[in-house]
Amino acid sequence: MIDETTSETLDLSNIQGNILKGYRSDLQYVRHIALEVKDRAAARSFLARSVAGKDSGVPAITRATLWADPGPEICFNIGITFEGMRALGLPSAMLESFPTEFVEGMAKRSLKIGDFGESAAVNWAAPFDGSNRLHIIATVYAKDRARLGRVQADIARAFNVLGERDGWARSDVNVLGPAYANDGSPDNRVFFGYADSITQPRFKVPQYPDPPTTQPIAPYGTVLLGYETPLEGVRFRVPMNDELGKDGTFNSFRILAQDVQAFEAYLDEAAGLLMQLEKDQHRQVLPADGEKDIPHVKDRFGAIREFVAAQICGRWRNGTPVDKWPYAPLPNPTPEQLHDFDYDGDSPCPAGAHIRRASPRDGQIVQRAANYARQLVRRGMPYGPDFDPAKPDKAERGLLGSFIGASIGAQFEAVMCDWINLGLHNPDITRFNDPMIGANATETSVFDLRLHDGKNCRLRGFPRFVRTRGGAYAFLPSINAIEYLAKLEG
Ligand code: HEM
Repeated sequence: MIDETTSETLDLSNIQGNILKGYRSDLQYVRHIALEVKDRAAARSFLARSVAGKDSGVPAITRATLWADPGPEICFNIGITFEGMRALGLPSAMLESFPTEFVEGMAKRSLKIGDFGESAAVNWAAPFDGSNRLHIIATVYAKDRARLGRVQADIARAFNVLGERDGWARSDVNVLGPAYANDGSPDNRVFFGYADSITQPRFKVPQYPDPPTTQPIAPYGTVLLGYETPLEGVRFRVPMNDELGKDGTFNSFRILAQDVQAFEAYLDEAAGLLMQLEKDQHRQVLPADGEKDIPHVKDRFGAIREFVAAQICGRWRNGTPVDKWPYAPLPNPTPEQLHDFDYDGDSPCPAGAHIRRASPRDGQIVQRAANYARQLVRRGMPYGPDFDPAKPDKAERGLLGSFIGASIGAQFEAVMCDWINLGLHNPDITRFNDPMIGANATETSVFDLRLHDGKNCRLRGFPRFVRTRGGAYAFLPSINAIEYLAKLEG
């Protein structure tokens, strides 16, 4: 069980920022820069200066300590791959202490996490193609894009820059067209038009304001090494050594392209079929006149289309949870309404919906001990051009996602493999993939909707909407560990 009264304490100044608390509400632009250590001495000196934070030509590592007001103009953090640890000269006994998933790297493990066909690692662009040259992913957040470029120029003096990816926060208008503007949702839309970053594991950090949610408190070991984990009696192995590995964690970084056009086209197709079902078989998809309660739609077809989108995700596009409000979104959901649900009893939220698969909360699942054990901190930002539904195009756009947890194997890979793609937690969805992000194929895809008449209706024939374009496993070291790496010799 989750212990609400943990006696463990945190030293926030030893923990990198963006783990316990995100930056996106203050800094809307992000750049992930892929780096190679070409010159060990230059790389180590950069790390030393970055930790010291006193050098105007080197960005200071942002820590988890609470910001004074106003907050910083930029935030800077680093993740180091296994090859990066080697390139910095970490002694072999310490290299051997890292878990296998991290040592092998994401490209080698990609089959397990559903990256096959077009998403296979062989199709990933360099340097995410399993290259030994990808050593560090430096992440910069800023208020504007120009600043990102200036920080990159500073970094480029110490490392070989292999490539970069930019993401930025979008307003409702930009991801779905003007019809969806001003619907009371938080301004954190991702492509496919949903509000995102609503749910995160809830930590009790005395220095931070109390998290506004009724969900249980997550032990620190969910996301930091060296602490109690959500699994009773289990502590994840701490790499390097107990002192240096403590307060570190792992980031599963993913570049996920989203086929917005195919997603919206499938909503049209599904709504057409369901209209036919109501007409020919007198089934009731939504309550009679239900379209009156769904904003921004012209008619019943439009309402059913939004209903399908809500069931696929488990939330309406403005974040309202389907578990509590199955037939229409709330106009202005409060934080409590967005968070307070847990699939108990006979939930109207489909068992196969994205958020229910990715986190079953308190709902009954086969692996009962795993309910809250695979929680991940998610830091994501959309990338690529805005999508205009009036002028649909095929440009690449999607999500730069960081899925952060103390164990890649027991959390990120377990969620991707067992839950997103195999549905092992519930016999009703076993064999079927997540309809929104799963490794689907038109010939085999299946998703069961829960209609207003209380019965299910099976949708088929949808393609894979999210393709993996690259990714890497990176260790997010504590401040002590970065200082140690900076002082290595030889
Ligand atoms: C392009 C890809 C993705 C999109 C568009 C997407 C979209 C969303 C949206 C709209 C939500 C609801 C907002 C919230 O509850 O915070 C959500 C929640 C969530 N997603 Fe994703 N997601 C994507 C990829 C992933 C991946 C790869 C994972 C797995 C590791 C994942 C795991 C989760 C989890 C754990 C939640 C929170 C569920 C909860 O606690 O209720 N997502 N996602």
